[in-house]
Amino acid sequence: MSQLLAPLKQMTAARVPLAAAAIRYWWLGLLLATLLPACTYDSAEELLSKTPPAPACDTLAVTFAASVAPLLQQRCVSCHNPTLRNGDVNLTTYAQVQRVAADGRLVGVITHAAGYPAMPQGGPKLSDCEIARIRSWVRQGAPNN
Ligand code: HEC
Repeated sequence: MSQLLAPLKQMTAARVPLAAAAIRYWWLGLLLATLLPACTYDSAEELLSKTPPAPACDTLAVTFAASVAPLLQQRCVSCHNPTLRNGDVNLTTYAQVQRVAADGRLVGVITHAAGYPAMPQGGPKLSDCEIARIRSWVRQGAPNN
């Protein structure tokens, strides 16, 4: 009987330190489980891109002078100025911009809405953030701020 049990005892003896180690280092597994996800990337794009993520679009701090006018100056005024009034639209003064903001044409043309000529004509569409900022200014009542 004892001869039969000897190999069994040996096996158990070998397993005890393993089990003890598993019990002793259970927290290591927990630690790895919590740390590993922090090191993984959700997408290859995120892993490869070296540029930091774009800052969130601020649609609250929008004023005519600091936000709307410079953007129109950059993207629209080359075709909409006192000498070149395409579509009879001049975008160089607050009063003129306010007029197309109030009648819906400003948002209509930059969002490429049906029934409006898409602006900037022949150029790339304004970015989603730029559109959101102009829209926000128009919703505020297109103030001269
Ligand atoms: C390359 C020249 C060009 C640029 C740049 C341009 N426009 Fe125009 N815009 C035109 C022309 C041409 C028309 C007349 C088109 C028509 O009536 O079909 C027009 C018409 C308009 C109208 C009148 C639309 C209507 O239905 O009466 C508005 C408003 C306007 N543009 C705003 C803008 C804004 C805002 C930008 C900049 C984001 C811009 N445009 C950039 C050429 C341009």
